Amino acid sequence: MSTRVAIIGAGPAGLLLSHLLGEAGIDSIVIDSRSRAEIEGTVRAGILEQGTVEVLASMGDASRVLTTGTRHDGVEFHFDGERHRIDFAALVGRSVWLYPQHEALKDLIAARLAAGQDLRFGVTAEGVEDASSDRPRVIATDADGAHFEIQAEFVVGADGSRSVARTAVTGSSTGGYFREYPFAWFGILTEAPPSAEELIYSNSPAGFALISQRSPQVQRMYFQCDPDADTNAMTDAEIWATLQERVPGTELAEGPIFQRDVLRFRSFVAHELRRGRVALVGDAAHTVPPTGAKGMNLAVADVLILNRALRALLLERDERLLDGYAETALRRIWKAQHFSWWMTSMLHTAPGASDFDHRRQLGELRSVVESEAGSAYLAEAYTGWPLEAGV
Ligand code: DHB
Repeated sequence: MSTRVAIIGAGPAGLLLSHLLGEAGIDSIVIDSRSRAEIEGTVRAGILEQGTVEVLASMGDASRVLTTGTRHDGVEFHFDGERHRIDFAALVGRSVWLYPQHEALKDLIAARLAAGQDLRFGVTAEGVEDASSDRPRVIATDADGAHFEIQAEFVVGADGSRSVARTAVTGSSTGGYFREYPFAWFGILTEAPPSAEELIYSNSPAGFALISQRSPQVQRMYFQCDPDADTNAMTDAEIWATLQERVPGTELAEGPIFQRDVLRFRSFVAHELRRGRVALVGDAAHTVPPTGAKGMNLAVADVLILNRALRALLLERDERLLDGYAETALRRIWKAQHFSWWMTSMLHTAPGASDFDHRRQLGELRSVVESEAGSAYLAEAYTGWPLEAGV
């Protein structure tokens, strides 16, 4: 079979790109090895930058981001017995929205199917061939194990951190700039009302905790743990005690815990983002540690840049924007890499951290919350750098 753009991965990046290309009359095929139920049922990120919200809202009634999502005008930082609010709206006139990623995916999938777009679940990409020709191909296997090929004018790897497309671009599945961290997050979903109006990021002597939300009835919370932590090793009571100890002064509203997971921390940027007629977007191109919620937002930024470049290539035969894709996307990617690393290192307790390290962290946190310039940087980065600038 053939199409104009073959997109591997029906996550936020792949689906949004297909939608935006469709608006310009450019057909695509999107494949994903997972089932629709799995994609729509996996709870992942929750915080959307203002620019991400504007893109989703441009889908009109097809997106529920403005009706179901909740605007957050600030976040709280807790440390050393103090609480500080960073007021995004006052500092930079921008906000973020809490709208779970799987809800955004439900909107995007429904919109793609309503538009008659070719979207195939249970189809696994095995590799990408002929990246440097003008007819690259995706080699795939369908749900019954039958092999087939998709010929396209362009192939996009939106296939996550274990990307198959990455090999066609960088020459290896792992080639990139890479960093690991000696801690992870133990995440829970609980059926409980919110414990606070806004998100709480807490640096405590016992380690980091983040009190987030998903809906009026469901809350998402995380605490710093060992990367090899076993999700079944703690009772619910032990989890609540661990969380509560890390947000002293805030009484957590407890409820049944119905999901537990461990999120490993890594920073990664692929050595190349594009070769010939194949490009990487989202987690296939880069991974950030979760602190600061940049992952999905960065994927959306990549897609906006690539969308413009593909429209120029496919509608006007103009390759100039495509030639600039990696450089333009990387400017924002490295800013987000820095922000995610910075938030992580400022808020977590590294194993073996000395008293000096801890006091230095408190000095760093105070430099942010007690200074308008410091707070404004955090607010600017958290709510997202303007997308119009392309970086
Ligand atoms: C969430 C995750 C984050 O990494 C973050 O910084 C804020 C919120 C969340 O899953 O809700």
